[in-house]
Amino acid sequence: MIKRRLRLGVNIDHVATIRNARGGPHPDPVRAARLAAAAGADGITAHLREDRRHISDHDIQSLMDQIDLPLNLEMAATEEMLEIALRHRPHAACIVPERREERTTENGLNVAESNVDLSAYVARLAASGIRVSLFIDPDPRQIEAAHKVGAPVVELHTGTYCEAAAGSDRDAELERIEGAAALAGELGIECHAGHGLSFGTVGPIAAIPDVMELNIGHFLIGEAIFGGLESSITRMRALMDNSRAAATGARSA
Ligand code: PXP
Repeated sequence: MIKRRLRLGVNIDHVATIRNARGGPHPDPVRAARLAAAAGADGITAHLREDRRHISDHDIQSLMDQIDLPLNLEMAATEEMLEIALRHRPHAACIVPERREERTTENGLNVAESNVDLSAYVARLAASGIRVSLFIDPDPRQIEAAHKVGAPVVELHTGTYCEAAAGSDRDAELERIEGAAALAGELGIECHAGHGLSFGTVGPIAAIPDVMELNIGHFLIGEAIFGGLESSITRMRALMDNSRAAATGARSA
């Protein structure tokens, strides 16, 4: 049973990656965020990494000042990031694990064995009106732990699913994601998903009824090189919507 429209958060980190390669102002992530809004994005996602390799503090300020769409700030569970989030008060904060040497966020947060007091961290953000999500692997243990620390939202890491060869490996990972999303739903946790999604992999994830939001970046920005950003987002939006509509129709038939 569908609850509401599947939302698309467009991650603009890699617009900043290209800008930073030359150190000037071009291409501007705020301009990309405006285009994303025009193309049907429901939110903008940006990861302020500890080493500021793409998005900068100034970008966060500009996005907060100049963009009408809700901002989802991805950040590590550190005091520095907490202070930044509480100062800007974005619509949402997604807590991710972070290691300097990794190329991207490789795994979900280990909520079950975290050495940070995540309940206090979640509570401080939530008290400021920020919707908090925890980026976790599709593992029932992590969902239960997210529930225990009071997270209202989890985002399931789809990286393993996207990287698996099409066939039984990918199907098995899809089942894990479906199971995790259903468990989140039973516990009253809103479920999001993201990482590595492309035109080829988004459909089955968009069809999962408990998934309410997808956050997609690298593929969309890469695809924009060939057909433009609006076109890549419009196509992704259509694939998501068609897949969700087909799954909803099949369930109610
Ligand atoms: N969600 C989270 C929590 C992420 O860390 C990332 C990557 O920054 C994404 C979604 C988007 O992943 P991708 O850029 O591979 O689409």
